[in-house]
Amino acid sequence: MSRYEGKVVVVTGGASGIGYAAAGRLVAEGAAIALVDFDSANATKSASDLSRQGGRVHAYAVDVTDETSMRAVFAQVATQFGRLDAVINSAGIAARGTLDETGYDEWRRVLDVDLTSIYLSARMAVPHMRRNGGGAIVNIASVAGILGVVNVAYVAAKGGVIALTRQLANELAADNIRVNAISPGFVVTALNKELRANGAEKRWENRIPLGRYAEPREIAAACAFLASDDASYMTGENMVVDGGLSAVLRPDPAVLP
Ligand SMILES: NC(=O)c1ccc[n+]([C@@H]2O[C@H](COP(=O)([O-])OP(=O)(O)OC[C@H]3O[C@@H](n4cnc5c(N)ncnc54)[C@H](O)[C@@H]3O)[C@@H](O)[C@H]2O)c1
Repeated sequence: MSRYEGKVVVVTGGASGIGYAAAGRLVAEGAAIALVDFDSANATKSASDLSRQGGRVHAYAVDVTDETSMRAVFAQVATQFGRLDAVINSAGIAARGTLDETGYDEWRRVLDVDLTSIYLSARMAVPHMRRNGGGAIVNIASVAGILGVVNVAYVAAKGGVIALTRQLANELAADNIRVNAISPGFVVTALNKELRANGAEKRWENRIPLGRYAEPREIAAACAFLASDDASYMTGENMVVDGGLSAVLRPDPAVLP
């Protein structure tokens, strides 16, 4: 029997990148998927691609920072699918900029999309999960939430995601709802297209023990594990999936003796 047979999973940011790969992996394991993304055209296309692979997948065009829309979409999913077993929170944006370069509007935009959306998603999902007797939430954080990189708002938001994950794990354990985070390093997605286009990719790859960026499916595999009953004794964890990037101090080869 497939791990996700009969289960219903919401994937935010499911139109692209890690979210799309996670949705595909869960469809292959038997899940029905509610794909939540504000890119309506891409969400519809992604849902129909996954449906052709045999999944029951609906797209919902929603901005994850909008409280009213988030309440409505979780209610709609519960009605249309009849239950809610897991949520994978992958919607997010990249942002570059030091303190001096980051204005207040940009700070708030990044915190809204990358952190507040996860609070909203949990708040709207939990009542439906309680009705099922439990569930699982997986939040996509980042190694930027553990290590400083030149990006003040993104680092703060992702550090917040890891802290929020631990707090929710503690609060929701009594409801049999597990909450975990995943911190990817670099993953080949639209999010870092610019970084890869300007040649910085090679320089970062030199600092990754496995010597390459991750493919989205390698993060999706971790999502599929943490949201499943295979991870039944894991909660409050931040699973780092970064090719060893944060495990070692790797100087530029040019400065090695
Ligand atoms: N790609 C990486 O190297 C990397 C590394 C670490 C963490 N992450 C995190 O992984 C998550 C997924 O990113 P990705 O790399 O798959 O990028 P991506 O751009 O391919 O996918 C992100 C998706 O989120 C959606 N989205 C953005 N803002 C939204 C909003 N307000 N409402 C609804 N949907 C919204 C986008 O439309 C897009 O489909 C993000 O949280 C990102 O911070 C990515």
